[in-house]
Amino acid sequence: MTVSKEQVLAALAKVPSPDGAPLPDARVLSDIVVSENKVFFSLTVDAAAVKSWESVRKAAEEAVRGIPGVQSALVALTAERAAGAGARGPQPAHVAAHPRPAGAAHAHPADKVQPGIPGVDAVIAVASGKGGVGKSTTAVNLALGLRDLGMKVGMLDADIYGPSLPKLLAIKEKPQTIGGTRLKPIERYGLTVMSIGFLIDEETPMIWRGPMVMSAITQMLREVEWGKLDIMVVDMPPGTGDAQLTMAQQVPLKGAVIVSTPQDLALIDARRGVAMFKRVNVPVLGVVENMSYFLCPSCGTRSDIFGHGGARKEAERLGVPFLGEVPLHMTIREKSDAGLPVVATEPDGPHAKIYRDIAARVRDQIKGAARSAPKIVIEA
Ligand SMILES: Nc1ncnc2c1ncn2[C@@H]1O[C@H](COP(=O)(O)OP(=O)(O)OP(=O)(O)O)[C@@H](O)[C@H]1O
Ligand SMILES: [Mg+2]
Repeated sequence: MTVSKEQVLAALAKVPSPDGAPLPDARVLSDIVVSENKVFFSLTVDAAAVKSWESVRKAAEEAVRGIPGVQSALVALTAERAAGAGARGPQPAHVAAHPRPAGAAHAHPADKVQPGIPGVDAVIAVASGKGGVGKSTTAVNLALGLRDLGMKVGMLDADIYGPSLPKLLAIKEKPQTIGGTRLKPIERYGLTVMSIGFLIDEETPMIWRGPMVMSAITQMLREVEWGKLDIMVVDMPPGTGDAQLTMAQQVPLKGAVIVSTPQDLALIDARRGVAMFKRVNVPVLGVVENMSYFLCPSCGTRSDIFGHGGARKEAERLGVPFLGEVPLHMTIREKSDAGLPVVATEPDGPHAKIYRDIAARVRDQIKGAARSAPKIVIEA
């Protein structure tokens, strides 16, 4: 049985908006995306009225879940910023609910400190300017390295365009809901994991409108029972566009790890990544050089395919720590793509050691950052 948009609209017609009008008539609905009987849409509402819409959002989700055949429903609440509050476009509801008055862009930083995630001591982002440099692979093995240091570690897949964690951690099961609204993350290799990929199909191309991106991430952060975590590692989508920036702004990040390959082109993008985090006052914990060199598995000869050492030099130039070099190695790729990350499955191997060393440096940097961190500030 396939669920149609008309069925969704019919179900939503029974949900009243705060002024009593049926939801489809309230001019707040985004496009309704139905994919494999999973339904997504957002309600774009006035920033000032966000509170009164939260119950409508919940009721809409319930109504859609009640349609026979619907497997899951994700309704996101987004609010447009008040006019003049900044040109960066729509913000997630909890940010936009307190729009900054025009002209107050550099008001006291403390007024924009983001609320933490209950139970989570530190959130760090693994990011890169460029796609395909090995962020997700690094994020997973770094998380496992931190686990090996005795920390309770969570992982959030913030790459809602191309979620990787279901594959990299071989997770096929769907998260359970708790009390109808909150999601229970999945446990794998001792990590507590959440990805939008658990809710949608790997093969489904996702088209998200800007506000939906942020709402989906916000929900994964705040409507998931993360439990008690020493650290949450966020696998970021590639790039340094508005989506990444907003993500960096709305999550209370302790710091960011930038992954780069050694080529000049990747380094230019890494530089953008560093600049972006600095701009939003998120400490850059350091740079990892991935695919740093190639060790021939049969003869052991080393080749510097992409020109080894570029990221270390770049880190020095930018005045940020260098965290380590990960070789380009068949085992890393094979294991990673099979959902058997090397740190978990070959803990005594050379690659696991490299990732653990990087994890130890990250931990030390976080301690340093905690001592000297500026408050995380939202820029208008
Ligand atoms: N050090 C490495 N050695 C060998 N293969 C690697 C290494 N790091 C990553 N890979 C492989 O490179 C590919 C891209 O890696 P990954 O998905 O981690 O990159 P990404 O930066 O997260 O990509 P995207 O920008 O699409 O999110 C994967 O097939 C992965 O297995
Ligand atoms: Mg990735």
